[in-house]
Amino acid sequence: MSTPRPLIAGNWKMNGVEASLDEARAVAAAVDSHPPSARVAICPPSTLIHRLADALAGSGVEVGGQDCRAEASGAFTGDVAAEMLADAGAGLVILGHSERRAGYGETDAVVAAKVEAALRAGLEPIVCVGETLAEREAGDTLAVVTGQVRGSLPAALAGKAFSVAYEPVWAIGTGLTPTLEQIEEVHVAVRAALTEIFGEDGARVPILYGGSVKPSNAAEILKARDVGGALVGGASLKAADFLGIIQAA
Ligand code: G3P
Repeated sequence: MSTPRPLIAGNWKMNGVEASLDEARAVAAAVDSHPPSARVAICPPSTLIHRLADALAGSGVEVGGQDCRAEASGAFTGDVAAEMLADAGAGLVILGHSERRAGYGETDAVVAAKVEAALRAGLEPIVCVGETLAEREAGDTLAVVTGQVRGSLPAALAGKAFSVAYEPVWAIGTGLTPTLEQIEEVHVAVRAALTEIFGEDGARVPILYGGSVKPSNAAEILKARDVGGALVGGASLKAADFLGIIQAA
């Protein structure tokens, strides 16, 4: 396994309508005219995956989903299978985002089952981990985050392409970011857990940082030790902001 390029992924969350595709097209045009050193992906709501995949076909911008169900099909009203995301044109999928862990009670075991589903469908998982403010204040950050890494990454990931995204819950959408020392401390601990689980391959898994990444702080964060890219929320919705982050990589 060679060392993968950093990954800058945009998580549009529940934002985006047909007109938003223009922002994605603008990102793709810039990426194609000046190819960045990082891989670039956009993860829109499920309703836009098909259209975004069509709009970005042949460009240097990849398309991903934001969640999937573990089962491949069945009576699960409102849910989306990994196979459906792949069928719509996604190549990656974000799993275990804190908004799903907190809002839908997703445990590490549930996330691990979804990761297996993603692999079954040929999708590359981006597995999110991160502590709440209360957990950080209690001094539990490293235990919580490495526990999530161990619980959410099934053995089936061995030899497969995937990344881990460290997103402190208190930094998401708040404008607050950890210090570089705090980011590095967690990324180094995640790296140690990954090498413990996957051996040498674990040393090459990209560990993304997510939480209030913007053009003004991206360069500094992306240079930090063991930071292999970024998972970007709000700042991925506007092409100019997202491109500012991509260029910083
Ligand atoms: O998945 C991305 C994320 O949760 C960070 O969101 O808006 O703080 O960049 P934001």
